Amino acid sequence: MSQAELLRDRRVAPSILAADFARIGSAVEEVMDAGARVIHVDVMDGHFVPPISIGPQIVEGLKGQVDAAGGWLDVHLMIDRPERHVTEFAGAGADSISVHFEATPHVHLAVHKVREDGCRAGVAITPSTPASALAAIAPDIDIALCMTVNPGWGGQPFLPETLPKVTELRGILDDDVAIEVDGGIETHTAGPCADAGARLFVAGSSVFGQPDPAEAYRQLAEAAGAV
Ligand code: DX5
Ligand code: ZN
Repeated sequence: MSQAELLRDRRVAPSILAADFARIGSAVEEVMDAGARVIHVDVMDGHFVPPISIGPQIVEGLKGQVDAAGGWLDVHLMIDRPERHVTEFAGAGADSISVHFEATPHVHLAVHKVREDGCRAGVAITPSTPASALAAIAPDIDIALCMTVNPGWGGQPFLPETLPKVTELRGILDDDVAIEVDGGIETHTAGPCADAGARLFVAGSSVFGQPDPAEAYRQLAEAAGAV
């Protein structure tokens, strides 16, 4: 299977934000052994969102392992003016990079930089940004990331009012654009998101926060109808 095909099926994307940072490599190995192929990396700058999290070094550190297992590094930039950092993350080995619609006046420029740097491009929207915000950029993206919590922290409950936006996005976007849901994805929220048209299901605490992440991954994949 080509790498790009990874985004055509429904997939659960474990978010390493919830992993034990002292053993990220083995945490990733555990979920990839259980079938995960898309690994989600949450980058936070202390400005766009209050916390500071992961930088390009972690992407670089995971690249070899994820590539060797036929996987995909899905980088979610929760940073101001993401266009200034795209090249760094692309160079570190990101396969897809999503920028926030709210984080720059130059979304089009940022998306094109992502593609020029050889990655699939995504645009993320927070819960208060309408789905229609992505209409103008729709032909230029591979991923529409619909935040289902407010960005910045793992472990928050799913916001049900974001679900109609997934349906709305499905109506705006071509079928080859994957809709990614992120935040509060658990076995009981994944199904409704799948029904609404989501294809990528980011899961942090419901995978790495569980006593058996591999089993939690499998249960979530089943609930999402993912491969
Ligand atoms: C939140 C991040 C998420 C986070 C999700 O700002 O974008 O990717 O890891 O965590 P859970 O799955 O615990 O809600
Ligand atoms: Zn994320």
